[in-house]
Amino acid sequence: MKILLVEDDLATREEVSDLLETLGHDTVDSDCAEEALQYIRSDGSADLILFDLNMPGTSGLDMIKEVRHTSAQAVSTMPAICMTGSKDAHAVVELLKTGITDFLFKPLRLADLKSSLQKVESEISRVRAQESQAAALNDKLNEKDKLLEELSLELSESQTESVLCLAYAAEYKDLGTGAHLRRISKYAERMAELLGWSEERCSSIALAAPLHDVGKIGIPDTVLNKTGTLTSREFNCLKSHTTLGAEILSASKSPVMRLGAKIAHYHHENYDGTGYPSGLVGSQIPIEAMITAIVDVYDALRTSRPYKEAMDHASAIDTMCNGDERTDVSKFHPELLKTFLHNHHDFGEIYRKNTVADVPPIVLNAVAH
Ligand SMILES: [Fe+2]
Ligand SMILES: [Fe+2]
Repeated sequence: MKILLVEDDLATREEVSDLLETLGHDTVDSDCAEEALQYIRSDGSADLILFDLNMPGTSGLDMIKEVRHTSAQAVSTMPAICMTGSKDAHAVVELLKTGITDFLFKPLRLADLKSSLQKVESEISRVRAQESQAAALNDKLNEKDKLLEELSLELSESQTESVLCLAYAAEYKDLGTGAHLRRISKYAERMAELLGWSEERCSSIALAAPLHDVGKIGIPDTVLNKTGTLTSREFNCLKSHTTLGAEILSASKSPVMRLGAKIAHYHHENYDGTGYPSGLVGSQIPIEAMITAIVDVYDALRTSRPYKEAMDHASAIDTMCNGDERTDVSKFHPELLKTFLHNHHDFGEIYRKNTVADVPPIVLNAVAH
């Protein structure tokens, strides 16, 4: 062991130091508490403090109290043995309160010193064994945590992939391309960034917004692809893609899927209450659904359909701003629309970069990132 020996009497210090050396220990000698404390504060490397109780200046008791208050745990819990010639009961009680390991009465006897040191050594090895057991247990727990994290990541990735596949299936059934979903993901994420949302929330909406029309998987092609005007029955059938999508997605426990369910359910609600399926008004509509609604309209304006030409960016923004015979701007959340219009170049850019029509649907990372 490395022992810090604190003893003001030179003869005793040399005698004890020699004894300790004989017993195979290293010593750092100090003739006062102040010097010992300085040593501890600057280095702190000792396995034990062996100290005299009565010393000029700071007493052994006050020194050990300071040691116990040191912030470094290795120092504050350092084993300590007090050497004393006095039988002062009060001092003994005070020393016991500091968690002293043992007392040795002067003049020291080799046998007493030996047994005291053995006591300290066995205490040190007990603590070290406990520490290494705790460290091993901690390592095991960390490993388990890591494994669990990996498993749940795998699970949520595969869940995401399955539902995105469904979204792509619905999308192919309707528009025959996956590019729209890629753009919706990126537009919605950009909107979330512009609104100052957290990184996690931005990623969630990027994953969930493409699920808005997943319910179209359950709508007959005759209705979905009809070029003429829909009968009111057909229109009601088409409208049901909102509740159907919500039903499909809300079965999942994944937060992204549940957000997707909310978006699917409410993306055709209008800010002025004229939408469907519930006719919600203003802030009753989940904000993620209103974001998706705005960017979905922009993308629809930019896309050609059998019954209409595609607009360029400027005309689409003009329509988003002033409306036309098919677009009523009072349906949009005014603040979200303002954010969209102020940053319209970002959305034009996303459209421009993501117009390659037929990237295979399983390029899921392109949607996720
Ligand atoms: Fe829709
Ligand atoms: Fe859409």
